[in-house]
Amino acid sequence: MPDSPKTRRSEIWYGGRGKSAFMHRSWMKNQGMPEDSFDGRPVIGICNTWSELTPCNAHFRDLAERIKRGVFEAGGFPVEFPVLSVSESQFRPTAMLFRNLAAMDVEETIRAAPLDGVVLMVGCDKTTPSLMMGAASCDLPTIVVSGGPMLNGRLRGDQIGSGTAVWQLHEDYKAGRISDDVMDEAEQGQSRSPGFCMTMGTASTMASLVEALGAALPENAAIPAVDSRRNKLAQHSGRRIVEMVEQDLRMSKILTREAFENAIRANGAIGGSTNAVIHLIALARRIGVDLSLEDWDKLGRDIPAVVDLMPSGRFLMEDFYYAGGLPVVLRMLGEQGLLNRDALTVNGRSLWDNVKDAECYNREVIRPWDAPLAAQGGIAVLRGNLAPRGAVLKPSAASPELFTHRGRAVVFDTIEDYHARINDPDLEIDASSIMVLRNCGPKGYPGMAEVGNMGLPPKLLEQGVRDMVRISDARMSGTAYGTVVLHIAPEAADGGPLGLVREGDMIELDVAERRLHLDVSDEELERRRVEWSAPDMPEVSTWRRIYRQHVTQADEGCDLDLHPGRHDLEVPRPSH
Ligand code: FES
Ligand code: MG
Repeated sequence: MPDSPKTRRSEIWYGGRGKSAFMHRSWMKNQGMPEDSFDGRPVIGICNTWSELTPCNAHFRDLAERIKRGVFEAGGFPVEFPVLSVSESQFRPTAMLFRNLAAMDVEETIRAAPLDGVVLMVGCDKTTPSLMMGAASCDLPTIVVSGGPMLNGRLRGDQIGSGTAVWQLHEDYKAGRISDDVMDEAEQGQSRSPGFCMTMGTASTMASLVEALGAALPENAAIPAVDSRRNKLAQHSGRRIVEMVEQDLRMSKILTREAFENAIRANGAIGGSTNAVIHLIALARRIGVDLSLEDWDKLGRDIPAVVDLMPSGRFLMEDFYYAGGLPVVLRMLGEQGLLNRDALTVNGRSLWDNVKDAECYNREVIRPWDAPLAAQGGIAVLRGNLAPRGAVLKPSAASPELFTHRGRAVVFDTIEDYHARINDPDLEIDASSIMVLRNCGPKGYPGMAEVGNMGLPPKLLEQGVRDMVRISDARMSGTAYGTVVLHIAPEAADGGPLGLVREGDMIELDVAERRLHLDVSDEELERRRVEWSAPDMPEVSTWRRIYRQHVTQADEGCDLDLHPGRHDLEVPRPSH
């Protein structure tokens, strides 16, 4: 176990008889905190993303109380604080625009406050990476508590998955196959409880990767939000963070290169979201671990997706939990020699110790290694003259018959351009065309919206076409599916070659060869480049101006280039 720490950070605030200590203690006492709260016991910050605008985290006021119980039991002093709660379902133009802002909020609060350890309460998509990125920059002992998934969605006897149902039902609705009544029922049936989206979307993916990283207690990923065991996990996490402070078990001892490798492989086995690529690269850079797009392709490409969850498969997170959850998947990886078994986790044990006895209770939901849902569950990283710094595709959510495809480009300059023209019966497009969307990257949108899985033209849907190759500098929701090439870097608005594609150009996709090629000569592209100018975008707020000027491209995690990397916490100078 690590050495015991020197002076506890909170003692600088609360220890002794000085003027500052008097002030720091006195104001806290207005909340009725007893004298012995300040006697040198570990002060644990509980970083809460509760908000009525983030319905996935709607139960976090109660969950925070459970964490506090655990902290008290272990002899700590819990202090709960709010941070910007980034809402995937309510925020426009995209929650991603605010991930880095929330990370700054988390980092600066931890730096400014008398904290010895932190519990991160996360759930809805962006709340997980934003809190982890902020905390990683500070490197205190930190434990993550995810809020858990919503109850499975239900519609007229069928299971429906959050997000995934939106895409599916709307295609049926547009094609005239289902009624308003069914849509109204689906709206409620999809959202039956608090908790994050219960498909294997970005939230479930990130909750799983948190567990694979060793940053949360075992079973964190899948216990449903409203299951009593979620409260128990929260209470245990509260107890454990106090011990972690006593052992000086910092985040950097957990988030090692080995841990990230485990997470990338776990992402393949769960058939996780493409968004995880961006978030893990950003997190790794914060903590000081070298992680690249190539690592995703190299480590994850041949991992079979064994978890049969929507959007790629049939089941939902409740089913995953009852089948044994992530520990089963990690055990399978370990048995295949695909786990860094010694990676340390927040409970002080190795990842392998935590999972080696995990039992699977349903081999339909968590399939056997040799009978997977998809042979390649990971992320394919594509390159070529259209994506010099890379692009990604999720093979398990795509159609194998389109993995090698050459098609004529139909180009949409913006998402508004797409909406204006996609319903036009005269649009020159057929099932072999490649739909191109641009100016939707980190700078261009701004925020890199989840619009990459643009819906197919109604006239082709009516003919029964269900998938087409689509390429863009956007992201897509982890709950979405299709043969969709995403995250093209550099993005069009930053001068990337995607901005030079013209209607009628031929584009070649070859997933096996990891290739995305625009069949236009270099000379012609050079001519087009001279004519190109960056799209005109208004600056409407301070943050958006900072973001647009400093956000990095997808291959670098879309963090701000201003971030100086991890710095151990200094003790701030006195305020008075
Ligand atoms: Fe919050 Fe999906 S909208 S997790
Ligand atoms: Mg999303």
